[in-house]
This record gives sequence, structure tokens and C-alpha cells, in this order.
Amino acid sequence: MAFVHIKNLLHKVIGLHVDTVGESSVDRAISHRMHATTCGNASEYYKLVKKDKLELDELIEEIVVPETWFFRNITPFEMLRDNALKSHVNFEKSKKYNNQYPSPLRILSIPCSSGEEPYSIAMMLSEAGLKGDDFLIDAIDISKQALKKSQRAIYGKHSFREKGMDFQNKYFNPVKTGFQLVQNIRDCVSFQRGNIVTDSISPMDEYYDIIFCRNLLIYFDRETQQKVLNKLSTMLKCGGLLFVGHAESGQIDKDNFSKIRVAKAFSFRKKIARNFVKSSAQLSEHPVNKLKDIYDQLVEVTKKDIELSKKINDPKNRLMENYNNNETKNDNVFYKINSLIDGNNLVEASQLCKKSLKKQPENSEAYYYLGVISALHGNNDEAEELLRKAIYLSPGHHKALELSAVLAEKRGDNDSAKSLRRREQKARNRNS
Ligand SMILES: C[S@@+](CC[C@H](N)C(=O)[O-])C[C@H]1O[C@@H](n2cnc3c(N)ncnc32)[C@H](O)[C@@H]1O
Repeated sequence: MAFVHIKNLLHKVIGLHVDTVGESSVDRAISHRMHATTCGNASEYYKLVKKDKLELDELIEEIVVPETWFFRNITPFEMLRDNALKSHVNFEKSKKYNNQYPSPLRILSIPCSSGEEPYSIAMMLSEAGLKGDDFLIDAIDISKQALKKSQRAIYGKHSFREKGMDFQNKYFNPVKTGFQLVQNIRDCVSFQRGNIVTDSISPMDEYYDIIFCRNLLIYFDRETQQKVLNKLSTMLKCGGLLFVGHAESGQIDKDNFSKIRVAKAFSFRKKIARNFVKSSAQLSEHPVNKLKDIYDQLVEVTKKDIELSKKINDPKNRLMENYNNNETKNDNVFYKINSLIDGNNLVEASQLCKKSLKKQPENSEAYYYLGVISALHGNNDEAEELLRKAIYLSPGHHKALELSAVLAEKRGDNDSAKSLRRREQKARNRNS
């Protein structure tokens, strides 16, 4: 019976439909973890895995199938290149006529496994002549081990099994344990751990131009597939492209997506929202609801007794130099917010941020300053979340990137800090 409970738990947490990976594989994985944790029997292990999140992660690692390789089924990557070139023309226009932070092509690879898929996207776009700051690739997976491998970016021969692709010599350098991807392609991808079933993946609706979600839905039951597809649809812009695996095309909802008639691409275009019926999952991710969460958090924060000394900490010191830049001075509201923060009037500063978010829910500066305020309160997790939103809205927001790097360093996550710093530097060069 305990085995059944553990499988139900796996279904709840990662949407796993046991039949898809095979009952015996799941049993083997559970037994393996039972022994590794020296639990005497399955009931004991169930009790452990229910309350210990780290052990649950270990069990998930045993179960997931990280199988992937570079340019897996090449057609989607070719289609991506052709679409990217079209939208690049618009990007150049927006750079010319628009503003401080033009919006590049945004791509999501979920699940990204050990990185081969998002790195293939980056190589393909680079081959097409796009530069690193013309596009952004977010890559998400639940597996910590797979993500670790993607950060090292060293691959063995199985990762190069797609025939007819001549890219290994151009983009990889031989190292002791395999072939390491060159740094400029690695810099194009931001990796993050996430669970598509339970986590909110994108901080706002209609954010991505293109989503790759290949070879994941096959592991879910029908209900979970539907929930996940609704989530992906919400994150995708109208007219945006969704790529799935060849066995997954049949699951795509024809009311919301139209199939693109390119053989072996398994791709769909999101229709204009007219008939779109939002699920409860989508509603909870609506920007207004997200905003409300942030307000609630902020109200909580301001209720606390804030010691003045907390205001003088590393993030603030680093921020002082940014406060003097011209962008901020030119903007009255944010100049005022800036001065309020400088004068330790954080409550009024956060109220002003809230006001400006009410007027303009997608204002990256407001999220940035809310992040600063949270960091000054010592709420670093909340600060990172707010800064992430600022960066999502304005990928070239170098101040948000800088503070995020500082906070990642504080957490001891040096890989993320390094990658954020590289992005910050690029953004600074671009904005200067
Ligand atoms: C077969 S790989 C697919 C990788 C890549 N998309 C491809 O097609 O080559 C499946 C990946 O899904 C990830 N995964 C499984 N359940 C997940 C979940 N609930 N959220 C995010 N990733 C998940 C696993 O860790 C694994 O790396």
C-alpha cells in the first residue's frame, strides 16, 4: 500500500503517470531510495519522503528520464531559425524607434534537461546571424543533476548523435571528459530549476514568443497534460509558436492552437485569444493576481519592525553608484522613489512603486525598486523574485541584473551570480 501512496505523491508533485515510465522502473527507483536512506520498509520511506523535500527531490531524480541530444529532430530548429529571422527585423525596428530596453525574442525551453535543447536553439540562432542580445532563452527543468550538467556544458558522444549536423568543431572545445561548449553560446541561456506542474514558470502572461516543450507531456496523464498545456498557452504570446514532441501533437487543443503544416516540426501557432477559455490555473497567474500577491507581501513587510541598520548592507552600497545615473534622474517618479529610499523612507517608496504598478502593471523600474526595498529589509528571496520580474520585463535592466548577482552570491550560488554578471556587463555595453 505504501508504494501506491508514494506513486500518488509522485503524481501530485510531478504529474507522473506511472505507466509511461513503467511500473517496475518506478518500483525500482523507490526501492533504491529506500535502501539509500536505510528505511526498513516502504511505509517508513513514505513517511520520510512526505515530509523531507530533499528526499523527494532525490526520488524525483531517480524517476525522471533526462534523455536528450543536440538538435534532436532537426526540423523544429530550422523552423525556429526562419521565424527568428522574421522577428529580428521587428526587433531592429523597435531598437531604432523605441526605448531604453527594447524587447528581444523570448524563448522558453522546458524541460531543458542537461541543456542540449536550449544550447541547440542558441547555436541555430547564432548561425542565422542573430547576436546574443537579440534573443533570450530561459531553460527550465526539475532535475538538479541535469541542470548541473548544463552549467558545466561538457558533453559526451551521445549528445552529438543527430546526423548531418556539423557544429561540434565550431562550437565545442575538447576537454578531458568530453567536449565543452564555447562560452558565448553558454551565455545565451539562463537556466533555472522549476516544476511545470506546480510552479509558476513565467511571471506574466503572453511573455514568450516561442516555447519548446518536447518529450515531457508523454509522462503525464490526460488531466495533467491539459493543465500544463493551459499553462504553456498562457505564457505564450498570441501568434507565438509551440513545439512539442512527435508523440505529443495529438494532445494539443485545436481551439487554441493551429497546427503548422511542416512535416516533422510538431509545431503549433497560438490563435488570437477570442475563444480562449481560461482555466483556474491561468486565472491565478493573471498579472493582476500576481500583483496582488506582491502587494500583500509588501504590506506584510511594512508591518514588521524594520531596524535601520538593515538598510546599510551590501546591496545598498552597490546600488548607490547606480542611483546617480541619468536614466533615473530623468524619470521624476523613479527619481523620487530613489530619493525616498536614499532617505530611508521605504514605506513611502514602496507605496509609490505600488501606485506606478497600478497605472502600468508591466513597469520594470517599479519591480526593480520593490526588489531594492525588499533587499534593504533583508528579504532576499522576495527581492530576487521581484528583480526576476524586472529582468523578465526588461532583459537589459543592468541594475536589476547587478543586484540579482549580488543576492545570488550571498546565497552562495556562484554559477548564477557569474552568469548574471555576464548579462549585466553585456547590458551595460549595449545601453551605453
Ligand atoms: C526526455 S527529457 C526531454 C528533454 C528535451 N526537451 C528533449 O526533448 O530532448 C525530459 C525532462 O523532463 C524533466 N521533467 C520531468 N518532469 C518535470 C516537471 N514536472 N517539470 C519540469 N521538468 C520535468 C526531466 O527532468 C527530464 O530532464
